[in-house]
Amino acid sequence: MDITAIYPGTFDPVTLGHIDVAGRAAKMFDQLIIGVAASPGKQPHFDLNHRCDMVGEVLSEFSNVRVETFTGLLVDFAKQQNASVIVRGLRAVSDFEYEVQLANLNRQMEPDVETVFVAAASQYTFVSSSIVREIAALGGDVSKFVDPLVESALKERNRK
Ligand code: COA
Repeated sequence: MDITAIYPGTFDPVTLGHIDVAGRAAKMFDQLIIGVAASPGKQPHFDLNHRCDMVGEVLSEFSNVRVETFTGLLVDFAKQQNASVIVRGLRAVSDFEYEVQLANLNRQMEPDVETVFVAAASQYTFVSSSIVREIAALGGDVSKFVDPLVESALKERNRK
């Protein structure tokens, strides 16, 4: 039986930490869909299509990965995509409480969709999209945290 998993997030922008988690998940499941959430409440820095394009480009080497955007509930998106697994990355103990809450809420709404946690690589445990945006906005070097394509997009965005 083929298993399709979804790795959701805002990816504003995608970091090497996200790529690490996605790469591990791509090896575990037959199909991996990266679900780029609109997340209007977070007032994203990059628009939805740009975030989606960047994720697609940095993960283009994985033949079983595709990228989709979604605007509603994650569980509805999972059903629509025939996905039975949600993948979430865990960086540190501090992620755990929130992640278990999300997993339980999603399970209440859709018991057939299981959440699987992937441990992020230790060198990325302190990386987050907002920290990357802040370093870039202040003229710092983000090359250790993001793909060169994302680094260029941040520079371009900060020039405006
Ligand atoms: N490497 C680097 N950064 C990581 C990471 C990793 N492995 N894992 C998480 N992060 C970062 C993210 O970049 C993000 O950083 P930021 O807050 O500085 O921008 C932060 O950790 C939080 O990430 P995450 O928890 O994945 O939040 P998100 O906003 O990216 O995604 C959704 C959350 C989209 C999965 C969730 O809001 C959702 O499901 N939305 C749909 C609506 C819905 O169904 N709501 C009900 C849910 S019960």
